[in-house]
Amino acid sequence: MSMQTLTVTTSTTTYPVIVAEGALTELAGQLAALGLRGRPWLITDTNVMPLHGSALLAALRTAGYDAQAIAVPAGEASKSIEVLGQLYDWLIAGGVERRDVILALGGGVIGDLAGFAAASVLRGIAVVQLPTTLLAMVDAAVGGKTGINHPLGKNLIGAFHQPRLVLADTATLTTLPPRELRAGWAEVIKHGVILDVGLFTELEQFATAVQGSGDQLAIDARMTAIIRRAVAVKVGVVSRDEREQGERIILNYGHTIAHAVETLSGYGHILHGEAVAIGMHAEARIALALGLCDEALVERQHALLCAYGLDPTLPPNLDPAALVAATLRDKKVEARKVRWVLPTAIGSVVVRDDVPEAMVGW
Ligand code: NAD
Ligand code: GLY
Repeated sequence: MSMQTLTVTTSTTTYPVIVAEGALTELAGQLAALGLRGRPWLITDTNVMPLHGSALLAALRTAGYDAQAIAVPAGEASKSIEVLGQLYDWLIAGGVERRDVILALGGGVIGDLAGFAAASVLRGIAVVQLPTTLLAMVDAAVGGKTGINHPLGKNLIGAFHQPRLVLADTATLTTLPPRELRAGWAEVIKHGVILDVGLFTELEQFATAVQGSGDQLAIDARMTAIIRRAVAVKVGVVSRDEREQGERIILNYGHTIAHAVETLSGYGHILHGEAVAIGMHAEARIALALGLCDEALVERQHALLCAYGLDPTLPPNLDPAALVAATLRDKKVEARKVRWVLPTAIGSVVVRDDVPEAMVGW
């Protein structure tokens, strides 16, 4: 197993990020190496528990850890104050201590929820992120954003709480439903467009190779290396800008339109990654209209999104006025101006707040 380690280094903390097939088998050793010798509290969801949680719990106990586990209902609805309260009850009734560690095993829902439980219980204990979706590996598990939803909006309650370790085991992706895997590719492609033209080119070559073999789901060394390279983009961005004071905003490429599309189509109908693919195409077209990039970029990005099974077409039934109104509710709005992340070349973006409303969704 290749255990090449990436490292997040911010002004306040540093931690390893390991992306490898079979990485979860190294968890007990990695905890010991980091001096995390308290009790592990494994938080996962009802889908992931039988697939990967039970084996992990057994391995930790075999390694001598007094590990506990809980599975919350799978799905976005678990990012709620009610489920968070149940986690506090479980942790506190079970005698959680400051030296203990929460293990967040699952997709972004579990990473955000368990991460926030770790940020807040006993005023903060250690968390280790163990992402099992492609989206969580390349985005949610790295960077310390944790939180839950409020009935009035997504991710409105939370904290920055950096993990002590991120262990992304690409073997867990073999059980991920194909639609969830496809949605994750949108974020991988996004990382290529915003900062890494080499990653983008590799993705083009990889798409050709897997289409040739007709086997898009095989998780192999090459796919693991591509995922690691996409993770490295996020590792670099959060190392340079931990609290989103500047550069980190570029991770939101495609997300202004994506959030508007998700809001207008009703949460749950369209996966986040699917909406990001739509958003990246629409936002590249805005860049084209502003003369920031050429048609070739828009077409190349469109072709790559399609090659990974994504449909970047703006849903035809979306009302353009409603779309504009929804972008104005974006979290990145300042003084009623949307801050757009727009591509100038593959691997390079700029932030603009002067996009005329007429260009949104044209
Ligand atoms: P998710 O956590 O709901 O996982 C998607 C589905 O896949 C769920 O049904 C889950 O049970 C299942 N699943 C997970 N791993 C599996 C596996 N290996 N095999 C089989 N099934 C598996 O969704 P997601 O797309 O991973 O994450 C979305 C969430 O992440 C959103 O709440 C979003 O706000 C958050 N997010 C956070 C950040 C951040 O920086 N903190 C970044 C991006 C997204
Ligand atoms: N998902 C965007 C960020 O972590 O900043």
